[in-house]
Amino acid sequence: MIGEGHLVSTVPMPYDISEEKRDWYREVSARSRSRKAAARRGELCSGEVELNRPAFRPEVLMPERKHQGLCSLSLFSGGGGLDLGFERAGMHHVASYDVLDVCGETLKTNRPNWTVFSGAAGDVSATDFAEFAGEVDVVHGGPPCQPFSIAGKQGGGDDSRDMWPSFTRAIREIRPAAFVAENVPGLLGRRFDHYVQETIIKPLSRSYTIDAFRLSASAFGVPQERQRVFFVGFRSSAAARRHTVPKATHGDQDELFSAKCRTPGARAALGLENIGFDCFAPTLRSGFTGPRKTTSILNSKASQTVWRQLQIWPNGVQESREAALRFPPENGHFRLSVQDCGLLQGFPEKWQFKGAVYQVIGQIGNSVCPPVGYAIANSIVDALRA
Ligand SMILES: C[S@@+](CC[C@H](N)C(=O)[O-])C[C@H]1O[C@@H](n2cnc3c(N)ncnc32)[C@H](O)[C@@H]1O
Repeated sequence: MIGEGHLVSTVPMPYDISEEKRDWYREVSARSRSRKAAARRGELCSGEVELNRPAFRPEVLMPERKHQGLCSLSLFSGGGGLDLGFERAGMHHVASYDVLDVCGETLKTNRPNWTVFSGAAGDVSATDFAEFAGEVDVVHGGPPCQPFSIAGKQGGGDDSRDMWPSFTRAIREIRPAAFVAENVPGLLGRRFDHYVQETIIKPLSRSYTIDAFRLSASAFGVPQERQRVFFVGFRSSAAARRHTVPKATHGDQDELFSAKCRTPGARAALGLENIGFDCFAPTLRSGFTGPRKTTSILNSKASQTVWRQLQIWPNGVQESREAALRFPPENGHFRLSVQDCGLLQGFPEKWQFKGAVYQVIGQIGNSVCPPVGYAIANSIVDALRA
């Protein structure tokens, strides 16, 4: 176990490192263990420091729309970012599918009345979706992005985790009026031109008019630098013509946006004291990325600098605000809890994630920011209902 404060993605494999470096890792690790024990004994917190009271309320960004007479099915549902956005936009939820049991637990905890298939029963690649044919207006999903992420090997279709063929098969079986699929921006890079044409566009373009575009989370009020790519398809060409890519509802300094519509910085969102500097949080890394069960949300060296400027510690995320307060990092920066990470991703505080910390930040970092999902869902509703 590597101690806190190390960039997981740049840590060399054990066989690459010198004895000197190995000793250094051992020392850091031992110090980290002893600080954790001291934190558990309550020795690191003076008692004068108060819990942060977040000012950011993502639910305000997603006013609930009344039911629109449309229903949606969710594939690769994860911790429910897209599901929540679609629900707030007034879509009736038909069912969710995810191969991880912990994702199913999260969804069932928050929405006991939803139909949720998880574990083996939630494996999209092993499910026949014909029973939903004609029963579903919209299918949405985020096939795993690791095969296309610049943080990975970018194996695309050669990566066994590639689930796009299962997604397009489900669409062909269900024949919904519209579909939405989400992924990392890397998928729209030239490297995957051929893949996108052959695996996504060709199998669906006979029945669907398809558009692909990028959205930025901060343009929808979420205090994080995060871009995602969306593929949207409509069976009816009239609905496709009516569809418009969601427009930014928020900005930072832009005069176009009133103070009410300015996306807050990460510190302001979390309710931290004014240190004379604030900005959006860097993209939160998913705890499911890579082989290690990481409790760090750090996704690059560049983002390390931004977190440092923000005086927020991105490693060793804790299971609660109380635990984070009891365990201040050595440099005195603010330590994050899973609740804080959920907020920086645009999940309302009420949304509960199940599982160990690495599984929670796995679900958070994998998710579509709910306000972005909401904007997409609204644009689909408007195109189908006009
Ligand atoms: C990018 S995440 C989706 C996040 C989700 N759209 C959200 O907004 O929260 C991809 C999900 O696909 C799931 N997954 C991977 N392989 C799967 C399979 N064969 N069947 C169902 N789900 C799968 C993963 O467990 C993960 O939760």
